[in-house]
Amino acid sequence: VIYIVGLDSDRTFRHFLSYCVRAGTRIEPINLRELADAGDWRLGLPVDGQSWLRMGRRTVSLDPIASYYCRLIDLTDVQPSAGSALRWRGMLLGLQAWLEAVPGVVVNRPCARVDNFSKPLHESTFSVFGMKVPASITSSDAGKLSEFAASAPSIVKAVSGIRGNARLVLPQEFDDFEPRQGPVHLQRYIKGEDVRAHVLGQYVHAELIRSDAADYRAATKLPHYEPWTLPHIVRSRLIEATSAFGLTFAGWDMKLDAAGTYWVLEANPMPGYDGYDARCHGAISKSLLETLEDAQFSKGTQHET
Ligand SMILES: Nc1ncnc2c1ncn2[C@@H]1O[C@H](COP(=O)(O)OP(=O)(O)O)[C@@H](O)[C@H]1O
Ligand SMILES: [Mg+2]
Repeated sequence: VIYIVGLDSDRTFRHFLSYCVRAGTRIEPINLRELADAGDWRLGLPVDGQSWLRMGRRTVSLDPIASYYCRLIDLTDVQPSAGSALRWRGMLLGLQAWLEAVPGVVVNRPCARVDNFSKPLHESTFSVFGMKVPASITSSDAGKLSEFAASAPSIVKAVSGIRGNARLVLPQEFDDFEPRQGPVHLQRYIKGEDVRAHVLGQYVHAELIRSDAADYRAATKLPHYEPWTLPHIVRSRLIEATSAFGLTFAGWDMKLDAAGTYWVLEANPMPGYDGYDARCHGAISKSLLETLEDAQFSKGTQHET
């Protein structure tokens, strides 16, 4: 059985669930909301195999050597009371620790190398893997920020992991900037197309995105999407870096310029991949399911020998 842990209101969670149902896979869905609202759990050390989750009348025993696809979304901050906030926090901390300790496949393990909560740190990691990253500045100094923005077209984007749209920035936007508003992360604007690549172990599914907007997700005119094949070297670097970060599944954002250079922007450790998957007719879900199932199969054969 494959465990799918996530939130009922999350589109990606629902998308993969229905894919598995259509594929006839044996799954055990775990809805975090249900678990937090009316649930109870015991998360024993993986050695004794006695872990379980209870949601209302349904009790799910947790097999430590099974495969897990998890999208642990933290709703602690939006809970109506301190009590329910504590419950969410406790539930997530417990699940995270348990998923970290089990020997089975977890896509993705909660403590995999996930530094994209800090864009400057995240970007510096890519250079180590021989990837090209646009030049950037992270500063609270208005003079330095406006100087960077004046010297060539630049993008401003969230410095942390908070969701925000990237946009072009002008030097005069820093005229009344106060250091206590900072820090701000600016990056050289790369003119070209967007490339999004979903990496699952050795599987890579890439798409080229043409858009008039600086951030295609904020475009008013629908972007043009097409399936894309990456050059061998780019493909293998993405595979290598994904695995080195301890991730089984990652969504890479890149820009491809007119000279054919791939500029790496970020690696999403919990990719909301449903829209991309719909356009490639479920190919990403297929690779995800195969990754989870292959792991189960190899465990089964190890058991017998
Ligand atoms: N340096 C850049 N040059 C050109 N476009 C960029 C640049 N940085 C970001 N973008 C655009 O903004 C989008 C979001 O940026 P990204 O770095 O992926 O951050 P996040 O997805 O965390 O907001 C990218 O997919 C791309 O379309
Ligand atoms: Mg992105």
